[in-house]
Amino acid sequence: MGEMDRILVVDFGGQYAHLIANRIRRIGVLADIASEEDSDEQLSSGHVKGIILSGGPLSVYDQGAPQLPQAVLNAQLPILGICYGEQLLAHALGGIVSPGRVKEYGKATVNLHVESPLFFGITTSQIVWMSHGDSVTTTPPGFHSIASTIDCPIAGIQDENKRIFGIQFHPEVTHTSCGMRILENFVLRICECTKSWNTKLQLEEITRGLSSIPASTKVFVLVSGGVDSLVLFTLLNKTIGPDRVLGLHVDTGLLREGESKEVLEAIHNLGYQNLRVADESTRFLGALEGKFDPEEKRHIIGDLFISVLDDQSSELLKSGAWLVAQGTIYPDTIESKGTAHADLIKTHHNRVPAMQQLIAAGKVIEPLSHLYKDEVRSLGMSLGLPRHLVDRHPFPGPGLGIRILCTSSFPDSKIIHEIESKTALICKDSFILPIRSVGVQGDGRTYRHAAAVQGLLSWDELDEISTRMTNHIGEINRVLLLITQKQGTLRGVPHLFTEKRVVLLRQVDAIVTTWLRKHQLYDQVWQMPVVLIPLAVKDGESVILRPVESQEAMTASFARLPRNLVDELAQQIMGVPGIDAVFYDVTNKPPGTIEWE
Ligand code: XMP
Repeated sequence: MGEMDRILVVDFGGQYAHLIANRIRRIGVLADIASEEDSDEQLSSGHVKGIILSGGPLSVYDQGAPQLPQAVLNAQLPILGICYGEQLLAHALGGIVSPGRVKEYGKATVNLHVESPLFFGITTSQIVWMSHGDSVTTTPPGFHSIASTIDCPIAGIQDENKRIFGIQFHPEVTHTSCGMRILENFVLRICECTKSWNTKLQLEEITRGLSSIPASTKVFVLVSGGVDSLVLFTLLNKTIGPDRVLGLHVDTGLLREGESKEVLEAIHNLGYQNLRVADESTRFLGALEGKFDPEEKRHIIGDLFISVLDDQSSELLKSGAWLVAQGTIYPDTIESKGTAHADLIKTHHNRVPAMQQLIAAGKVIEPLSHLYKDEVRSLGMSLGLPRHLVDRHPFPGPGLGIRILCTSSFPDSKIIHEIESKTALICKDSFILPIRSVGVQGDGRTYRHAAAVQGLLSWDELDEISTRMTNHIGEINRVLLLITQKQGTLRGVPHLFTEKRVVLLRQVDAIVTTWLRKHQLYDQVWQMPVVLIPLAVKDGESVILRPVESQEAMTASFARLPRNLVDELAQQIMGVPGIDAVFYDVTNKPPGTIEWE
């Protein structure tokens, strides 16, 4: 691989830095990621034919904001700055970056108004994905603007002679449909790289890594039942043999209906007997009882996984060396502040401090940690796993535990009314929910209110309302459609975490899965979280349906399911005692994350 042409991606902490490298590899060219500090060293290693500067959560004016490494300019290679990378180029080369009048999160229409080698073969008006507050307002000397949106007059810059380009939008996310073409233009036309990388090499690299585990070492795998850990378990069994692999499936009490049984059956059907099931539901549910803070809940769940692992491993693996294998994939790492400048969006269960200590002690292997869900799925298929297992919807490690919103208090109604006066300007029939959820905006974490709208609105209208509200109103990061409610006024009711609520959510979640399968919609959506929120007409709760379309979870759009069928589903859910209303989340990612917590 030493001789291959490569692209260097300098990571400024953006949520998508790794995704850029992944996309370049899909084009067939090797891409390496460097931090601001080690880009110098990487550039001197040769064969780098071009540099991409990633996005990041900070403003170029923030204290401690990453700087443009001098080595990047000295290299005299083609450069493409994306989002923060573009702003950094403009700032360093004498242009001006300012806070945008309007911030843009998610979908935007960009006009490509100048012929640029970057836009070769692309028509002038394009739907792209944005996630920024600041933008370039004056181009540096020698540069000119090559793209604009309504809210961002300079959405792209170039100095063609120096082969330096910058774009405010994200070409690396699948929702920017011309994105791959832009990256291909940069990598193949502007940097003139030769294609030499393919996924077979990637699998060989992973297998080589596993084969180098010493023969005396056993591997303990946490098998959650999700696609990632199942693929990992199979891969380990095939590579180092079942005698050295021990799977542990923990029933946390936060799984879906019948999940544990299904996992065990699926693994036995594959011919593997080396899986243990530990029923730890009492322990998990007991520790969560009465809690409400989303991060606290995530930490409790993650830490308990480690305790269970400790108990099980000391009993089972008393003698000899052992390692823990986790099916961590890349989004788990980046959202948990996995790189130097990245923001903490949410602590994924396999990234809690106790696990980080085991990682630091060299006790953990994560062979899939550079892959995305779609790549794990194709790896699963190439390992011979049946399609129905590989194509199961992703389910987060903390399970239903992060789909039950809890709160003991609500904001002053004055604050809520103030926000409502702003949403009313965009949609008259709207109101603000007194609870908050996690979002990702401008590569940073947000924890904001959701707005709800009602009435006969088409999916297109809802998409537009949702984008306008989240771009223009700083207090919200999500928009919902109210599908149905019991007669009366919906209001916040205090609800903490209880086992009873888990049982209720599991019941509704099972109704939704059955409905998806019955109407052949299961394969049309990428994932469909069902969330319980403390909003009631009397003393019940409300349900949020969150179907999304995605490729690898880094960006997502809300799924547009047939309205008549959604109404039918909502009616069925309203028949469950304790449910007072059903909402449908019409937020893309960004600005909202897929899960609510
Ligand atoms: P978000 O909500 O961040 O989720 O848009 C992206 C994808 O990751 C899943 N997710 C998790 N998976 N442990 C996991 O294994 C976690 O702690 C976790 N949190 C979110 C989520 O379901 C979605 O597919």
